[in-house]
Amino acid sequence: MHRSKVAPTGAERRLGPDELIVSKTDAKGILTYANDVFCRMAAMTEEEIVGQPHNIIRHPEMPRVVFKLLWDTIASGREIFAYVNNLGADGANYWVFAHVTASYDASGRIVGYHSNRRAPERAALDAVRPVYAALLAEERRHAKASEGLAASAALLDSTLASAGLAYDEWVWTVTP
Ligand SMILES: Cc1cc2nc3c(=O)[nH]c(=O)nc-3n(C[C@H](O)[C@H](O)[C@H](O)COP(=O)(O)O)c2cc1C
Repeated sequence: MHRSKVAPTGAERRLGPDELIVSKTDAKGILTYANDVFCRMAAMTEEEIVGQPHNIIRHPEMPRVVFKLLWDTIASGREIFAYVNNLGADGANYWVFAHVTASYDASGRIVGYHSNRRAPERAALDAVRPVYAALLAEERRHAKASEGLAASAALLDSTLASAGLAYDEWVWTVTP
């Protein structure tokens, strides 16, 4: 499936308050497991999901710097909590509050990753949306993707540094 062809419709799908979206990937981010809630929210079958890279649900308006931070964090073995806007195959979007961790083999090598997501509070999204919109705008101001990413990383640092926070501290300040 060529997910780059899925255009957001503007319809928003909400995760139930007691629901969790769960997925597992290999060390490269290829999906090896998705629960029922993942499939429903992504509007895809398990067969369409497993074996695909995790960016099959990437929303075009998510700033790249958030995924860079996610990968830098989990590849170093640390956990991350992050707000992510996802895109279903039907064009509906759904916001999640994700907790992503590495999985290890007996020798301590990272063999994959695991993510659990729950529904974000509306108040948290009110705080997150403008920050992500500014990061995306910064990324789009640059013709070269690498320059846009560097500029948006600098903007994220300065935005959070003015509050004396790292991203992993900031997420908790916006989470009721
Ligand atoms: C366990 C795990 C869970 C992830 N969950 C998501 C997710 O829910 N949505 C998403 O867009 N990317 C998720 N990613 C990140 C993707 O691998 C990818 O970096 C991101 O979609 C950006 O794609 P791009 O590099 O094509 O821009 C996850 C990665 C891992 C390892």
